Amino acid sequence: MPHRSPGAPGHRGGNYLSGKVIKYYRPKGSAEVRHLIDHGFQAFNAGRLSEACNIFTEKMMLPEHETTVGLTIAGALTPAGLGGCVIEVIERGLVDFIISTGANLYHDLHYALNFSLHRGSPFLDDVELYEEGIIRIYDVLFPATVLLETDKYIRDFLVRSKLSGAMSTSEFHYRLGLDLMEQNPGCEEYSVVAHAAKSGVPIYTSSPGDSSIGMNIAYHELMNGSTLMIDPNRDVNEVCAIILAAKKNGCVILGGGSPKNFYLQGQPTLWEVYGIPKGGNDYFIQFTTDQVVWGGLSGATPAEAVSWGKVNPGVLPDTVVSYVDSTIAFPLFCEYAVGSEHNRRPRKELVHKREALVADLLEQAKKVGDEKPIQDEPAEIDRHR
Ligand SMILES: NC(=O)c1ccc[n+]([C@@H]2O[C@H](COP(=O)([O-])OP(=O)(O)OC[C@H]3O[C@@H](n4cnc5c(N)ncnc54)[C@H](O)[C@@H]3O)[C@@H](O)[C@H]2O)c1
Repeated sequence: MPHRSPGAPGHRGGNYLSGKVIKYYRPKGSAEVRHLIDHGFQAFNAGRLSEACNIFTEKMMLPEHETTVGLTIAGALTPAGLGGCVIEVIERGLVDFIISTGANLYHDLHYALNFSLHRGSPFLDDVELYEEGIIRIYDVLFPATVLLETDKYIRDFLVRSKLSGAMSTSEFHYRLGLDLMEQNPGCEEYSVVAHAAKSGVPIYTSSPGDSSIGMNIAYHELMNGSTLMIDPNRDVNEVCAIILAAKKNGCVILGGGSPKNFYLQGQPTLWEVYGIPKGGNDYFIQFTTDQVVWGGLSGATPAEAVSWGKVNPGVLPDTVVSYVDSTIAFPLFCEYAVGSEHNRRPRKELVHKREALVADLLEQAKKVGDEKPIQDEPAEIDRHR
């Protein structure tokens, strides 16, 4: 591990926020980067990254495939400045829905509200940082006041919007995005949440209580008696309905974590629970640092997902995992995609179609229920066996 103890070279002492402000980087489609990926990235994980770029641009993006693309985001990517890549692929219609950790959406709000996160070092004295009121995410530094001010904005939004009752996270994030644009006109150019709302891209969170957004919703219930309730059932059904309606399904998975499974479970929800066989995901791209040997879902391969009916067994050549830090892989991947022939698609604006898609899911599921043969009464169990 590249660890240096506090005070060793690299310790900046004092002026912790003097590093450059982290800005969202927007990929431009650099021909040099494309050349590097096509000709320089030939083997090992560079080879897999090159393969991922090809699967995305030459297969998933082909207009005739009409692939519905889900992007999943785990790891602290918005604090690291990767929100600009996400905005670019949303704006170009290259992704149709997003499943993210709440943290990435919460930290995106700092950008929307014009607070600054700074480049720093991972080798600092955290006790000193604590005493100076500075928060550290690896080498990203910002004052604790950024958290307090962002939390205040969320609580003001909850009061102002009078949101009540049960709702999906996609609805909540859509309303939040609209509010951000109203409060800070133009912020959609530097906020994923705002840009997604503008472009009609639904954003889901697989564990809504697990972030400062969820923490402030909980506060609002306890302190203000709010009835607003994030309803994960709606999220499960909406994601499932989006997947069902797609001609082909494909995913770009950044990191692993619960967003990865929340996307992939859509196929088993269809065949195992609703009795609607969709055939599994058609394209699978993952950039991760997780290893398969630990047995966790984050590092599980597309081949393993076949056994669950999550990935179509016939499409394994169209699946790839590149074991690489996604703060490196994703900007390269996006540069490649933006510079490719199929670099823009009409946006599906699924946020406005969720109700109709869930109604279709219900109709198809009811049809399956009507067609099911009537089961014989289960034989009495011999308890003495
Ligand atoms: N204040 C907040 O709102 C806040 C802050 C931090 C985390 N959280 C919550 O904690 C949970 C975990 O957060 P997390 O996603 O940051 O951490 P995590 O460590 O759980 O990472 C999730 C997955 O992504 C992988 N990953 C992480 N960084 C990567 C990288 N650079 N490249 C490739 N793969 C990478 C991990 O190996 C793991 O599989 C989330 O649910 C999040 O919402 C909340």
